[in-house]
Parts: sequence; C-alpha cells; structure tokens
Amino acid sequence: MAGGAHFDGGTTKDYPGKLTGFVLLTCIVAATGGLIFGYDLGISGGVTSMNPFLKKFFPSVYRKETADTSTNQYCKFDSQLLTAFTSSLYLAALVASFFASYVTRKAGRKLSMLAGGIIFFAGAALNGGAKDVGMLIAGRILLGIGVGFANQSVPVYLSEMAPARYRGMLNMSFQLMITIGILIANLVNFGTNKIVGGWGWRVSLALAAIPAAIITVGSLFLPDTPNSLIDRGHDDAALNMLRRIRGTNDVEEEYKDLVVASNESKKIKHPWANILKRKYRAQLTVAIMIPFFQQLTGMNVIMFYAPVLFKTVGFGANASLYSAVIIGVVNVIATFVSIATVDRFGRRTLFLEGGTQMFICQLIVGTMIAIKFGTTGEADIPKWYAILLVLIICVYVAGFAWSWGPLGWLVPSEIFPLEIRSAGQAITVSVNMFFTFGIAQAFLAMLCHLKFGLFYFFAVWVFIMNGFIYYLLPETKNVPIEDMAIVWKKHSFWGRFIDDDQDNNGKPPHTPEV
Ligand code: BGC
Repeated sequence: MAGGAHFDGGTTKDYPGKLTGFVLLTCIVAATGGLIFGYDLGISGGVTSMNPFLKKFFPSVYRKETADTSTNQYCKFDSQLLTAFTSSLYLAALVASFFASYVTRKAGRKLSMLAGGIIFFAGAALNGGAKDVGMLIAGRILLGIGVGFANQSVPVYLSEMAPARYRGMLNMSFQLMITIGILIANLVNFGTNKIVGGWGWRVSLALAAIPAAIITVGSLFLPDTPNSLIDRGHDDAALNMLRRIRGTNDVEEEYKDLVVASNESKKIKHPWANILKRKYRAQLTVAIMIPFFQQLTGMNVIMFYAPVLFKTVGFGANASLYSAVIIGVVNVIATFVSIATVDRFGRRTLFLEGGTQMFICQLIVGTMIAIKFGTTGEADIPKWYAILLVLIICVYVAGFAWSWGPLGWLVPSEIFPLEIRSAGQAITVSVNMFFTFGIAQAFLAMLCHLKFGLFYFFAVWVFIMNGFIYYLLPETKNVPIEDMAIVWKKHSFWGRFIDDDQDNNGKPPHTPEV
C-alpha cells in the first residue's frame, strides 16, 4: 500500500495519484476565501476604537469613553452597544451558514464560494460609504452572510479536492489565509488611523472589497469537486476532474468509492434529520465540540483585545502597532508549522501539544498579572516584565496557530460522510460564530469580574479540551474522506453507537460495491 495510510488500530486504503500543480493551485485559490474572514476579524476592533468613527456613529459611546477616568485596568469602560455592533456579523454568519449548506449540497461548493465573495463585496461597499448606523449595520450583516457562505464551503471544498495524504496540509491553507487577513487588516488599521481628516475608518472598511474580489474572481475559475459533481449527476465530468487533480488515469478505485458515497447520499432527502441519527453521534459531537472548544481557548480575547492588553502592560501609544505586528506575524508563521507537520504527526499530536502549550502559558500569564495587578487592577509594570509577558503571549499564540486554529476548521470538514457533510459543516460554522460572538460580548465584563482569574478560566477549558481530544477524537490523518466511517467504527467509545450493518454507509469497509 503506497504511502502507508495508518490510523488508530488499523490501516485504510491509499489511492494512486500525486500532489499535482493543478490541485495545489485550485486549493490556494479556494483558500483565499479565508481572507475575508481574517480581514474582518482584524479590522473591526481597530475601527471601533477610532475616535472619528465613534463620534459619527456612536456619539454616546464616545462621550462615555472619553469621560471614563478609572485607573482600574480590569474594569475599563465596556459598551455592550459597540460590541453588539461588532458581533452582528457573527450572528449573520451563523444564520447564513445554514442557507449555505443547502446551496453547497444542491448547487455545488463553487457556487457557495462565489456567493460568499459577492455578498461580502456588497457589504464592504456599504460599509465604506456608510452615512448612518443603518447603512453600517446593513453592511455588516452582508459581510456576515459572506463569511457564513465562505466558511461553510471552503473547508469542505479543500478537504474533498485534496489527496488523502495531503488533506491536512491543503485544508490548512484556509487558516493560513485567515491569519494573513488578520495581519493585513491590523496593518491597514495602523495606517488609516494616522489619516488626518477622520475618514481613515472608511478606508479600512472599504478595503475589505479587495479580499472579496479575490475570492469572487477566483471562484469563477475554480472547478467543482469530483464528490460534488457526482452527487449532482455529472459523472463524466467528475471522472475527468478526478484524473486531472490526481495527475493519473488510474483513478478507478477512488471514483468507484465516490459513486458509492454518492448513491448513499442520494437516498438522503433530509440531511438535517439524518445527522441526528445515533450512528452519526460521534461526528455530530465533534462538529459541535471542536468549534466550541476553539473559541474557549481564549484566542480571540488576545485577537480582539491585544491593543488594550499591550497598552495595559506599558507599551504606550504604539501598543496597537506592536500587538498587530508581533502577534499577527507569530500567528502566520506558526500556521506553517502545522501545514508542514499535520499529515505526518497527525491531528491528535498537534492538538495535544498545542493545548498543553496554551495551558502552561495561560497559567503563567494569569499569575504574572496577578502578581502585578492583584485584585485592584492598578500597577506600574517594569519594562522587562512587560516584555516577558508579551513573549509568553506569543508562545500561547503559536500554540493556537499550530493546533486549534487550523484543526478547528480541518477536522469537522473531513469527518462526515458525503450526504451530511454540508449540514455538518454548517453546524460547525454556526457554533464557531456563536461562541466568537459570545466571547467578544462577554470579555470585558468577565475581565472586570474574574480579573487575572480570566486566564485561569480559559486554562481550565484548555485542560478539558485536551481530555476530549485524548479520549474521544480518533486520528484521521491520511484516511480517504469517503472512507472515514471506519475510523469511527473502530473507536472504542464511538464504535458502540454504530451497528455492524451501519458502518461505512451500510457497506462493509474496504469492499465497496458499485
Ligand atoms: C478562528 C478565529 C480566530 C483565528 C485566529 C480561526 O481559526 O476561527 O476565531 O480569530 O483563527 O487566527
């Protein structure tokens, strides 16, 4: 068996074919769908802290913020109105991902990506030209719909296009684009904040049109995945596409397995009812818990509030630039580590290593803040102390960037059988968005009440998620995507939920009939 595709307690097949330039190119283009999500994650915090923006759209927030003279760093002014505005995008994305799952299944992955790009583009235009809060919110809702469509379709597209042995690597280019989007957005904000005349925020918001244009134009040229082509009745096109992306004519076996998967898929009229069946309990649990845990790592607290945090520990006026560049660059570079290792070391190893690293860093950060700020929240921090703190935060960010960041999108996209893959991914996107929203909304209040304990709070969650991975997540590296049912069947806990005649879509593994 070429390539030796191994996983927990057994082996699975490995189809012929290589990593072609064509598949690499299509995956890179599709992954640019991550830019729009990343750009938005990076741009919002900066824009909502620009005074001209606040004065124009949220004058009451601006007045209160400038009047706030409290020295307690834990309990800085907290505006639910402003965070609700920021978070409206995540709620729109949450709802949109369910519609996207329908389009992705019925009309193909490519069309969902295209829709995501166009709708995001419209949102960027509305936001850049916003004259009042109404336009601003309408624009944000469109951006959210765009993100919902892109995040629902891109990870599935990448996982289906990729040869099993390179699936981790290719799928993770999505997260790489997210991190690049965040970094670019932070740099843009730093530049536009300096524009005199108070219209810098417009530039920041309008520039979202560039990543939107990239994925829109890119998706026009993308082929659909063989899995989706077969599922929609284009068998010949699927066979040709499979030959092209695998760089060989010897694709019979893989093609037959895709047909088996598609025949099963066609029997399913209601994926939403199906996904609730006992035999899919494992996949459903993982699709919900992975994005939930990803947000409970506390990463977005660092992403959204790093400028505040850096200012607090004494970086002064340049805090936002420092935090943008340092954290952003670490986030991008560390993602390459997982891209290079995920198909060799496996998902579990990265999850467990990254989790342990984040856990230790959180305990140290919590303790360092406790020592200096105590419970009063007032402190004068020496430079060396601040630098040490920043270093540890960077180690934490690196831990996330090579584990829960990319794996949070990879694993849910590769565990479902074809008939419920689209629905499963919609669940993952919506859970992710819901908790991104929740954390953004609750962070300032939590910091005020839990103080340095906030870092311990996230540490406890990271500890729990390590246990979840250790006991409940089987290794999925190198397993062909339409062969994944075997992994669950062989798992000591999840196997109990699958009756013998139900595994692998009712077919015995390894012997697909056509
Ligand atoms: C997460 C985002 C996070 C980003 C940081 C993504 O995988 O879904 O919530 O902000 O990684 O790089």
